[in-house]
Amino acid sequence: MNIDTKVINGQKIASIIKDQIKDVINQAYPETVGLAVISLGNDEASQIYVRNKQKACDYVGIKSQIYNFEANTPLEDILELIDVLNNSHSVDGILIQLPLPAHINPRDLISAIDFKKDVDGFSKESLAGLITGDTVFKSCTSLGIIELLKYEKIKISGKKCVVVGRSNIVGKPLALMLLNEDATVSICHSKTDNLIDEIKTADILITAIGQPKFITGDMIKPGAVVIDVGINRDINQKLCGDVDFDSCFGIAGYITPVPGGVGPMTVAMLLKNCLTAANLKI
Ligand code: GUN
Repeated sequence: MNIDTKVINGQKIASIIKDQIKDVINQAYPETVGLAVISLGNDEASQIYVRNKQKACDYVGIKSQIYNFEANTPLEDILELIDVLNNSHSVDGILIQLPLPAHINPRDLISAIDFKKDVDGFSKESLAGLITGDTVFKSCTSLGIIELLKYEKIKISGKKCVVVGRSNIVGKPLALMLLNEDATVSICHSKTDNLIDEIKTADILITAIGQPKFITGDMIKPGAVVIDVGINRDINQKLCGDVDFDSCFGIAGYITPVPGGVGPMTVAMLLKNCLTAANLKI
């Protein structure tokens, strides 16, 4: 099989979006847009993500405040901070960086955030709105994937989309968003019978499973659009996705690289959601 695979440059598309957001903030915002980021512990990946979010905020002119707690901080202390941030006029968006230490249930913190400041799109109101069609904040990774597909003018309507991974932060919201775009959607996971047969049916395959290079070229339909949400380390400690890029290249129609694919879009969508949150206040 030798298909001319197009590599989707998420870094470039995210840069274009960030520049648009920067212009809007420069021209239209009388007050500073503010984002509060809460993280616990010192998970290496989370620290990198938080730093990337902070840098992106600086770039577009959003004022970010980072609250880093010790891993063993009691839940009540963080709830107290969330209450202050919910009531702060200078804070438009609040996010809790995941994963959290085992003694804290993420829902306990996420449900404490005022849903009008839920820029991650993880609140019950945001998730339910994906079903009723009136959500204010769509989860950033899922929204970023839809934007990537639209930017590349990839038809979603009528297509068979297979989402591998059923998390509340990617798999489930993304499946609903694809359905809202008139796709036919399957959600697969670790217990799916005949997973590989299912993957092979995908016109658009999205993987968010955290298994390095799990998807190989022989598993995909020739010409499929392959979107890789995974950020893993391979046996040489090199960053890689859930997709074995090399074996899919030449079989996929489109593919996102890791790094430089979905990751930068997640950050760009967070900035977009911050603007939406600031608009709610005006
Ligand atoms: N951890 C991994 N991805 C995300 C994300 O999109 N938002 C938050 N808050 N935490 C994450």
